[in-house]
Amino acid sequence: MKTKEKEIVTLQRSLLHDTEKMLNKQIEMEGKSSAYYLSMASWCDMMGYDNAAKLLYAHAEEERQHMLKLLHYINEAGGHAIQPEITGIKHHFNSLKEIFQLILEHEIQVTKSINIIVDHCFGVKDFATFSFMQWYVTEQREEETLARRALELFDIIGEEGIGLWTIDQELGKLHDSTGDA
Ligand code: FEO
Repeated sequence: MKTKEKEIVTLQRSLLHDTEKMLNKQIEMEGKSSAYYLSMASWCDMMGYDNAAKLLYAHAEEERQHMLKLLHYINEAGGHAIQPEITGIKHHFNSLKEIFQLILEHEIQVTKSINIIVDHCFGVKDFATFSFMQWYVTEQREEETLARRALELFDIIGEEGIGLWTIDQELGKLHDSTGDA
């Protein structure tokens, strides 16, 4: 690239380097979330937990949208969004309950990551990205709540007898009531 072109690109960039790196890491996290939930959906499908599978297929799609939203933001702000390498996704699970325990643990990690970005943006006075990230702050609250509500079903209903079948039915209602995962 010629010097003049480099100068123009530099002038066009408004995202700070650190912020761009953090947002790209978040793209990776959302992409991994999508792959992780797709793997869980497939396991549920294979095991005959139809409603859990429906909820998780939708959740995987939602995570992909979270990733794309970040990707577009970075590029529109003059940065370079990176399509992440996604490896090491877990494919085998011990139980339906374990799936929702893992989801809750995972979402808590995502919330921490979002909070670090928000804190960083505030600190460096990147108020545009700070404002953009508020959508993720709200979304994380909803996602953690959903995972907790799903886990409560196992305590309330129990897994004995037709318990698991009933839990799967209730997961379907949970999916319908949120309109997503
Ligand atoms: Fe997009 Fe569930 O975090």
